[in-house]
Amino acid sequence: MLHERVVLVTGATGVLGRVVVARFAAAGARLGLVGTHLDRLTEVARDLGLDADRWAPGTADLRDDGEARAAVKSVADRLGRVDVVLHLVGGWTGGTAVVDLDPAELRTMLDQHLWTTLNIIQATVPAMIAAGWGRIAAVGSRPALEAVPKSAAYAVAKTAEDTLLRTVAREVAGTGVTANLVTVGTIDEKHERESAPTLKNATWTTPEEIAAAFLFLCSDEAAAMNGARLPLDHKG
Ligand SMILES: NC(=O)c1ccc[n+]([C@@H]2O[C@H](COP(=O)([O-])OP(=O)(O)OC[C@H]3O[C@@H](n4cnc5c(N)ncnc54)[C@H](OP(=O)(O)O)[C@@H]3O)[C@@H](O)[C@H]2O)c1
Repeated sequence: MLHERVVLVTGATGVLGRVVVARFAAAGARLGLVGTHLDRLTEVARDLGLDADRWAPGTADLRDDGEARAAVKSVADRLGRVDVVLHLVGGWTGGTAVVDLDPAELRTMLDQHLWTTLNIIQATVPAMIAAGWGRIAAVGSRPALEAVPKSAAYAVAKTAEDTLLRTVAREVAGTGVTANLVTVGTIDEKHERESAPTLKNATWTTPEEIAAAFLFLCSDEAAAMNGARLPLDHKG
C-alpha cells in the first residue's frame, strides 16, 4: 500500500522516530528524515540499513518556517514529492504549578509543538492537496485532553498542536488529504510494560503500536478517517 510513497518523518532521531522509520521502510516507503543535525539523520539511516536512493535528509530547526520549507524542498527534490508527514518532534517540561510558571517555559513548549507543527503543515499540505492525496499524523498527549497538574506549558502546547491538526483536517476534507492524531500517555521505549510490569506502566504504549496505527492511517483504507484522535493509551 505504501509502496513508493514518500514519507517525511520529523523527529526521526527520537525515541519513536527510529521505530517509525524502520516500520515504514519495511512497508516499502521512501523516507525523508528531518531533524536538526545531518550527522544524526545519517546515523539513523545507516543503523536501519536504508539504501541511499530510498531516503533523503532534511536538516532544519522546524521552529523556523524558512528552514522547514527548505528541508521539505530538499526531500522533494531528491525523492520527487512528499506524500505523508509524520510529525514526531518531541520535547517536554513540567513540574511547575501555573502560579509559578515562567513565561519562557511556555514559549519554549509553544515553539516546539505549535510552531513546528504549523511550519511543517504550511510547507507540505498545499502540494498534497494539489496531488489529490496526502496523510498527516502526529502524537497527541493525555495532558492535552484533560488538565493535569504541573503540566500546563506542555499541555497548552500539545493542545495547540492538536487543535491545529484537527482544524487542518476540517479544511482539507474531501481533497484526498487527511490529518489525524494518535493519543498516548507515555511511550514505552524499553517495553517495560512487558519486561517489568507495574500498575504505572500498564497503560504505556510501545513505539511499535504507534507505528502500526500510523501505517493504518496512511493506508488508502483509512481515507475516511480524518480529524480523529485514535486513543492508544488504554483509556479511550
Ligand atoms: N515520549 C513520550 O512518552 C511521549 C508521550 C506523549 C506524547 N509524545 C509525543 O510523541 C512524539 C515523539 O516523542 P519522542 O519521545 O519520540 O520525542 P524525542 O525522543 O524527545 O525526540 C525528539 C525529536 O524531535 C526532534 N526535534 C526537537 N526539536 C526540534 C526542532 N526544533 N526542529 C526539528 N526537530 C526537532 C529531535 O531531533 P534532533 O535529533 O535534531 O534533536 C528528535 O528527533 C512527540 O510529538 C511527543 O510530544 C511523547
